[in-house]
Amino acid sequence: MRLEAGQVAVVTGAASGIGLAMARRFAAEGLKVVLADVEAAALDKAFTRLREEGAEVLARTVDVSEPDSVASLADAVYDAFGAVHVLCNNAGVGSGAEGRMWEHDPADWKWAFAVNVWGVFHGIQAFVPRMIASGEPGHVVNTSSGDGGIAPLPTASVYAVTKAAVVTMTESLYAHLKAEHARVGASVLFPGPHMLRTGLWESHRNRPARYAKQRPRKTPYRSLDQWEAAMKEAGHEVAFTPVEEVAEHVVDGIRADRFWMLPAGEHSDRQIRARARSMLDRADPTYLESFVLD
Ligand SMILES: NC(=O)c1ccc[n+]([C@@H]2O[C@H](COP(=O)([O-])OP(=O)(O)OC[C@H]3O[C@@H](n4cnc5c(N)ncnc54)[C@H](O)[C@@H]3O)[C@@H](O)[C@H]2O)c1
Repeated sequence: MRLEAGQVAVVTGAASGIGLAMARRFAAEGLKVVLADVEAAALDKAFTRLREEGAEVLARTVDVSEPDSVASLADAVYDAFGAVHVLCNNAGVGSGAEGRMWEHDPADWKWAFAVNVWGVFHGIQAFVPRMIASGEPGHVVNTSSGDGGIAPLPTASVYAVTKAAVVTMTESLYAHLKAEHARVGASVLFPGPHMLRTGLWESHRNRPARYAKQRPRKTPYRSLDQWEAAMKEAGHEVAFTPVEEVAEHVVDGIRADRFWMLPAGEHSDRQIRARARSMLDRADPTYLESFVLD
């Protein structure tokens, strides 16, 4: 679709990282932006920053895991701006699960699913009917991840399962929109091609009591810096993709109406081929990354 000044973009998880970068990028195109996030203080900062940069912006504290919270976000956006053209269901968390799957705390699964999977579904339910009914062009971007969206990292398997669900959900959404001849497109975003320096490693900062761990962690949470240092020590150089590059990819993808917002990358292409090959050959999944396995 064409992106034009005066259109409206809603971004969940917009207080930091990729979401904030997308919101700033949309604002730079002249779109009005709606920042939705559960972390009030960070949201406030993001709101001030965008306003200072000249954007027309609305900020709302929203918990995407709660359908009523997302529904009232949609009402507030339509009250304020009367339309939505771009919806980025981007809020997401790392589950904090430890150990083998049979040892996982089920609360980690419930929380990660509530935000990463239900959160996307809530966004679709709250916004898409009105986006279609408006008859105006629109686009939905759901944030997945190479981890799960392409192949699971066995050390972050709960997260991977949620991100695999986001791919399938978006494929189905795409088919449903096509079947309705809607002017609304859909894309699934794989931020990358490398790691990103965002708050994802500190996701537990936003974990609500109702999804609290049932038992304490055995090991402390590892920060991104600690992980990077450990990788370096093990002889692995870690590359990072700037969040602005992801935002650029999203804007290009919306303009081109591209379903797969998958940046070119040898690593991901190799994984996709290897996974497809393993399925077609009915062979065991030898493609799974093991270098970060303990
Ligand atoms: N960082 C990476 O390397 C990477 C890679 C692939 C995909 N992703 C995905 O990108 C998306 C953005 O993450 P990020 O890396 O920018 O991390 P981030 O932590 O910087 O941003 C995530 C945002 O989501 C918000 N959030 C968390 N729970 C929420 C809830 N219940 N309701 C509303 N907002 C909530 C957080 O407050 C935060 O502002 C996530 O879906 C993540 O899974 C990240």
